[in-house]
Amino acid sequence: MHEGAEGGEAGRGVAPGAGDDPHRVGPDPATAETLPPAAFTDPAFLARELATLFARAWLVAPPLADGRPLSDAVAAPEAHAPVDLLGRPLLVRRDAEGALRAFPNVCTHAWHTLAQAPGRGRTLLCPQHGRAFDGAGRCVGQRGFSPEAVPGFPRPCDHLTPLRVGAWGPLVFLALGAPGRDLDAWLAPVRASLEGLPLERLTARPHGAEVREVEGNWKLHAWNYMDTFHIPFIHRAPGGLADAVDLTSYRTELFDGAALQWAYARDPADGFDPAHVHARFRDPARPGRRVFALWWLLFPNAALNFYPWGLSLNVWEPVPDRPDRTRFGWLHWVLDEAKWAARDDRWLSAKTDAEDVAALAQVRRGAASGLAPRGRFAPGAEDGPHWLHRQVWLAVRGRTGAPPA
Ligand code: FES
Ligand SMILES: [Fe+2]
Repeated sequence: MHEGAEGGEAGRGVAPGAGDDPHRVGPDPATAETLPPAAFTDPAFLARELATLFARAWLVAPPLADGRPLSDAVAAPEAHAPVDLLGRPLLVRRDAEGALRAFPNVCTHAWHTLAQAPGRGRTLLCPQHGRAFDGAGRCVGQRGFSPEAVPGFPRPCDHLTPLRVGAWGPLVFLALGAPGRDLDAWLAPVRASLEGLPLERLTARPHGAEVREVEGNWKLHAWNYMDTFHIPFIHRAPGGLADAVDLTSYRTELFDGAALQWAYARDPADGFDPAHVHARFRDPARPGRRVFALWWLLFPNAALNFYPWGLSLNVWEPVPDRPDRTRFGWLHWVLDEAKWAARDDRWLSAKTDAEDVAALAQVRRGAASGLAPRGRFAPGAEDGPHWLHRQVWLAVRGRTGAPPA
């Protein structure tokens, strides 16, 4: 078992009383309980998640207010764009050499936001009193300020504090603090699963409502995403996802901070071009089988859904102080136009989404009812949900999980 057995936790000097931690999710799916319902409704637990889990995570940048992906808005040298992350104003900029940089979108003078819309330029000029910053975020001057007039100007804190930023394909990753994982190592299994997929051909396709506030704690959305167990019920045959995939082939694979779900298509015509996914997804016994989709959860709050038509991204951002609300970011990139046009018929995108939304609304009611006990997990069938709950608990305790054995 990964992350050390419970004895190991005790052996490492976990704080006294950790065994009584009301949020503890044990390592064994057969004996673990879910997070308590209050973890989905309590503002104090959300504040704890933001201060621990989200402060130390790499987070996928949500779509911009205009529905575009951030990567498109900062594609050109010296382009910048404001992006809201967990309710905080950030600024992402591509420098003249092509590297991405990120800063707080907050002027160091008197706190006006620096950019209110995407733009381009060598320097950033604050619109309130004209403080200027260079491409590296250094404060390079302001009328009324000079070392003679204002001793010590500029202080180190007059420059913008760089934040961590990275990119893979069309995705931009940001971290508010020091992330607990190396970005490249974290993404390595995702990249490997899709070796051969021409990421550079993915074209963003905004089609409205890319960012909206929805009901339900962010974890309910992630849990629903990891819920394979509900497929024969919520997405039942005939006509549902349970029909479109070969359910007997459905797999959930757990990695360090990421989880992959995949299955073979019932009809090989609905599957991936074998050249676009790793050779390990071929079935030597039945070489005609094709992978229906690769569904990646990037812990904590993003899902990358790779289909033969392209990629859809889901980001579930908690809304500070509103544990029952989620800021949902949704973006699509198209690889194959004809398949994209058939996504609702062949990959059942709209139907599956609607079924998940309906199920989630019911779970949300139950979680908030004051009548729900902690749940249990069906070993094997619910190893993914168990993993998710445990990752949350480990992260709010200040630890991250190692790869499962
Ligand atoms: S707030 Fe930016 S220059 Fe004053
Ligand atoms: Fe579902």
